Amino acid sequence: MKTLRFRGDFINNHWLLSENGDDEWTVQSPADLKDVVVRAGAKYEHVEKAVEAARAAYLPWAHLGLEKRKQYLQRLKEVFITKAPELAEIIARETGKPLWESKTEAAAMASKIDITLAHSLKLVAEEEVKDALPGVNGYIRFKPRGVMAVVGPFNFPAHLPNGHIIPALIAGNTVVFKPSDKAPGVGQWMAEAYASADFPLGVFNLVQGRIEVGKRLVMHESVDGVLFTGSYEVGLKIKQDTLTHFWKILVLEMGGKNATVVWDDADLKKAVYESLIGAFMTAGQRCSCTSRIILHPAIKDQFIDQFYAGAKKLKIGHWRDNAFMGPLISADSVEKFVRYQEIAKREGAESLMRGKALSLENEGYYVTPSINIVPAFEPKSVYQKSEIFGPNVAMFTTDSFEQALAINNSSGFGLVMSLFTKNRALYEKALIEAQVGQLNLNRTTNGASSKLPFGGMNKSGNDRASAHFAIQYCTVPVASLEDPGPFTGANMPPGLNFEVKD
Ligand code: SIN
Repeated sequence: MKTLRFRGDFINNHWLLSENGDDEWTVQSPADLKDVVVRAGAKYEHVEKAVEAARAAYLPWAHLGLEKRKQYLQRLKEVFITKAPELAEIIARETGKPLWESKTEAAAMASKIDITLAHSLKLVAEEEVKDALPGVNGYIRFKPRGVMAVVGPFNFPAHLPNGHIIPALIAGNTVVFKPSDKAPGVGQWMAEAYASADFPLGVFNLVQGRIEVGKRLVMHESVDGVLFTGSYEVGLKIKQDTLTHFWKILVLEMGGKNATVVWDDADLKKAVYESLIGAFMTAGQRCSCTSRIILHPAIKDQFIDQFYAGAKKLKIGHWRDNAFMGPLISADSVEKFVRYQEIAKREGAESLMRGKALSLENEGYYVTPSINIVPAFEPKSVYQKSEIFGPNVAMFTTDSFEQALAINNSSGFGLVMSLFTKNRALYEKALIEAQVGQLNLNRTTNGASSKLPFGGMNKSGNDRASAHFAIQYCTVPVASLEDPGPFTGANMPPGLNFEVKD
């Protein structure tokens, strides 16, 4: 396929190529290493230019008013819809995700605009509070924060940053976006969409780069918010780097080690099907993937037999081939995935399906799914606690719901838990006790809804839920007491001795 023409950074609605740049890298498709998707580059001083552009654009954009900003977003939505097939192909090439799955991501771009305008804006609607103080009315209003730095991940290179960018813009903030260095083509597509929708100068800016560009952007003193989706390790580093930047809102959407609990009364067929989706969709590269399955002994053997049979039949292949699962993102990811199979073995897990590198007709970073049966719950086990970000699932057994919750809560992450049962009392107990930001009933762990909050506890996030709630961290609540009456001198405190002269 044709290598994309790299256009550089998009600043103040101009493309700036990084001649004599500071960094260069080549993106080969993980689904076919012969496919050179794009040759990208970075120029570090562009970060400064992009933040300056966003800063200069901020007040005019904030003062433009909600209705006019909505019109821009409606135009952007039309562009997103028209250009969705092109986006789906770039996502598929850069991430290796099957085309059917990449198309769902591309379609989510326009839906995010609809959902934000129709639902999420209600969360920041102006509210009048009668008699906020005796005889004085109060108002709660929400204003933008300023310049938002959005740092995107590779697994949903368009949809997840879009989940921060759209609420940021509609609220009146301006944006500097750094896409994943694994997906510069997707970042470029997004900037082209803003250019086609004729956004005002500097409202949306793009800087391409790797670690150094990300670091310069999040640490920039003129940035008012850092909205990050990615790994725990990078999120932690951002938190450390910005520790003294008290004026910045920091939003960290990080990893998961999500558990599914299948109880003795579960609809087994459904539990197996949903767990296959949770564990292996996107080759396990979602923070919401199922990586631990906790089984009641009464259904354990049946569940494992059916799950194994299902996993054996999964089609793995190139994004064009209608496969269920594509490759991992990189050689490093394959190495990590294989290394964790060794760790599982060393820690006594029984390998039911061995995860290993897979050679296909197109050379890429393909692996087979892995299923490990752990001998016992071991809170210190490296394998049982670590996020692997690959198609891997560990099976546990217990007849104690208390212990199922303890296993769920033991990993240090806290994003999603799924429970398969007809017993509502168990669900209600888990609603309180499971340390997660999302608890699903009789449904898989992945596939979050933009109409709901999405975010985790502990190492999964910093309590700033995204998706529907993103509009909240993109705004500052402003309280106002409004007193329209004339001065009367009533209720004067003793000792003030203020005299009213006409
Ligand atoms: C993710 O954040 O990695 C994906 C969430 C989802 O499954 O929709």
